Amino acid sequence: MAASCPLWSGPMAVSNKDSAIALDVLSSCWQEQQHSINTAGGGCATIFGGVNSAVTDTKSRTASKIGTAVKAYRYQAMRHSGWLVASFISLLLTMPVYGQRYDKPSSSNTMGPARGPVVDPAKVALGKRLFSDSRLSFDDWNSCASCHEPSHGFSEGRPVSVGVLGRRGKRHTPTLLGRASGESQFWDGRALTLEEQVLQPISDPNEMGTTVEAALQRLHQDPVYRNLTRESLAEALASYLRTIRSENSNYDLFLWGWTSAITDQELEGLRLFQNKARCYLCHSGTRFSDEQFHNTGIAWRDSALQDEGRAGITGKSYHKGAFKTPTLRDVGRRGPYMHDGSLATLEDVIEYYNRGGNQNPYLDENIVPLNLTDAEKRSLLAFLRTGLAGKINDGVIERPMQSRNRPVTSAAR
Ligand code: HEC
Ligand code: HEC
Repeated sequence: MAASCPLWSGPMAVSNKDSAIALDVLSSCWQEQQHSINTAGGGCATIFGGVNSAVTDTKSRTASKIGTAVKAYRYQAMRHSGWLVASFISLLLTMPVYGQRYDKPSSSNTMGPARGPVVDPAKVALGKRLFSDSRLSFDDWNSCASCHEPSHGFSEGRPVSVGVLGRRGKRHTPTLLGRASGESQFWDGRALTLEEQVLQPISDPNEMGTTVEAALQRLHQDPVYRNLTRESLAEALASYLRTIRSENSNYDLFLWGWTSAITDQELEGLRLFQNKARCYLCHSGTRFSDEQFHNTGIAWRDSALQDEGRAGITGKSYHKGAFKTPTLRDVGRRGPYMHDGSLATLEDVIEYYNRGGNQNPYLDENIVPLNLTDAEKRSLLAFLRTGLAGKINDGVIERPMQSRNRPVTSAAR
């Protein structure tokens, strides 16, 4: 029997098989959550409630439990009583839980742009213009968007960045997706807030190569920017960055109850991601990052660390060669990968993890050989490449999941 669910704007077919799979994943996750809420966030955070990136936060743990109970109940209802009962129960249960989730913009339990300081539309619009304004750089050389290319998932296709006068940086340009919920900035976390971060590229000799004062002087000649100060420049850029996000991937739709939005192969990939392949240990929560620093062996080459990573900031030996876990949202469209851009494709990334990374004295204990079969590698790849491909939004302040107009091809299977 197939049922359609009026909760979603598009056509939706929930077969008994789909709901059984979803229920199975959710309930195994539920059990896992009972045993494994830990500092890393626990893999269940990935599937739980769709919003619970901060699993260590008690409030969000409670919300996850409610969210999961609601989903489990909904799927059960769908299995046993058909769509009418299911949608009625869904509607009743969903409203207070999801309502609570999104009606508090500054709550730590949201995954959208509202997280952190509330964003002001005027500042966002100003920030968006400044983001692609080359007057922020020496000799009009480049803009933020030259390296953080919107069409490349706000990252870039080169292994390491090239700034003014063709100067090569030493690291790969990271994506700016989901920075609203980031806990620190840069691969080594050397800046805490976005306001602190955004002025640094302007004076970095390898990036924009000027000074903030000189950039402001140039901008002041334009009447639009006459009143711009150091603070308002930082605020505008940071406000805009908080709106850059990827949403409505097949994975998101699946979490929200549209079980047929995810393909069987992607779903198998998600299971592997959370279990055998161990990815969720670090790429946890719906932002797919624990925001912590790990040595995955990437910086180890020719029997030496090529980049100290986090240790360059903290001086701690356990931070040697450790870098911040990047988000995996829309990862398929933004290679090459890693802090040095050394892995060209997602296939390379999977092979790298499968062989247990590069052995070195500081390797994270969770990087171990995985023994994935070829079919398992293909499923994991499908989850990463298409399961996590969403719609990238920037400059728009709206609650996530309200723009549901992305055609999801797999839903039409
Ligand atoms: C020349 C290329 C280049 C330009 C221009 C540039 N960036 Fe970056 N950006 C990078 C690189 C490379 C890094 C990583 C550096 C590191 O971690 O040491 C980075 C890191 C960042 C991060 C941290 C992301 C994270 O995941 O922690 C933010 C935010 C950011 N840039 C915003 C901006 C803004 C805003 C501008 C314009 C004012 C800008 N960038 C201009 C290359 C560039
Ligand atoms: C021990 C923690 C940990 C585990 C486990 C882990 N990762 Fe990572 N991942 C990281 C860190 C840290 C980085 C950045 C490493 C660097 O650049 O040096 C990263 C980088 C990546 C990137 C590159 C993203 C980008 O924007 O460049 C991908 C893709 C990725 N991981 C996928 C996976 C997959 C798939 C798995 C499971 C097979 C996995 N990771 C397991 C911590 C981890």
